[in-house]
Amino acid sequence: MLQINNLLARTTRYQTQIQTAVDRVIKSGWFVLGPEVKRFEQTFATFLGANHCISVGNGTDAIELALKALGVQTGDKVATVANAGMYTTTTLLAIGATPYFMDVDLETRVVTLEEVIKAIDLGVKAVVVTHLYGLAIPQISEIAKICANRNIPLLEDCAQAHLAKINEKCVGTFGNAASFSFYPTKNLGALGDGGAVVTNDLAISKRVELLRQYGWTAKYQVEIPNAKNSRLDEMQAAVLSGFLPFLEQDNDRRRQITTRYSSLINHPNVITPPVKEKDYVAHLYVIRSAQRNQLREHLRQLNIASDIHYPIPDYRQPVFGEQFAHVHLQATEQLANEILTLPCYPEMSDQQVEQVISAVNSWCV
Ligand SMILES: Cc1ncc(COP(=O)(O)O)c(C=O)c1O
Repeated sequence: MLQINNLLARTTRYQTQIQTAVDRVIKSGWFVLGPEVKRFEQTFATFLGANHCISVGNGTDAIELALKALGVQTGDKVATVANAGMYTTTTLLAIGATPYFMDVDLETRVVTLEEVIKAIDLGVKAVVVTHLYGLAIPQISEIAKICANRNIPLLEDCAQAHLAKINEKCVGTFGNAASFSFYPTKNLGALGDGGAVVTNDLAISKRVELLRQYGWTAKYQVEIPNAKNSRLDEMQAAVLSGFLPFLEQDNDRRRQITTRYSSLINHPNVITPPVKEKDYVAHLYVIRSAQRNQLREHLRQLNIASDIHYPIPDYRQPVFGEQFAHVHLQATEQLANEILTLPCYPEMSDQQVEQVISAVNSWCV
């Protein structure tokens, strides 16, 4: 079966880098918040063109701690999209904040300036936007500007968009803070969980640093509330440092694959996403079809895996019961019914790419 991602192919390709990193950490005798973490944080911030990077345990904690550092508290209303896998919404539930759901654009599948303005006018305390599937939100500059003008903190969730750029500026440097995930399948993925908050604001970075380690201002001295223990370990930091120099070239390979998909998939019942330049790092290649489930079955019969990112809009998740029964977001709901993710990872061979293309084109509706 051709999987949508293949982590064994990745670890095989990077065996030397992984071994070197692991050996270095074992020999150092330092396993949590040590020199490897510091080195990775500095290098990753430099890659992004940001001032500060504070690593944490995973991408969801990165969102939660960044929101807390931005001043979000229990009872606050926070804007988010509902088509990005419930990660931000989960953190809002953890904080005791209430989500306000924004719709997305049907073609780009990301939030629009118009939806952000609507949310601000309705009194949200903060805005979270998600650069979904690896696409930099086309209007991110304008969104950042309006949030700054209206004094509303903006968090960019970049879990799927490492090094996606608009005019040479990386996502994660437009808003007040950004969250990243290093979950193994991400474009920059560890061999376990990992995440980071990135910001240009020293005060925010200091707050996240306290929030990730019990609220300690000194060892065993807790000064701020609502903190947790969420740290990237030395082993993961060392492995990520080993992968980082190859991120740009791996993103190029992903883009090459998706460009081929978008130019050669020509089935009349399939809508392919626009593949552009550096604003898309091809984390996921997501097509649309009104007969998505039939296409999925057709691919399965040809031994090609696919997935749905994501099948349930956040406001329809069972955890909410009837709380958001009144919410209907047209594009979000249409996308949930039509989207399908095809295999895409840097280690895919050209032959596997052609296999996927001909499988889709051979589908008899
Ligand atoms: C868009 C988005 N946000 C947040 C997360 C959460 O990251 P993690 O799984 O590291 O907690 C993920 C990935 O899983 C994601 O894809």
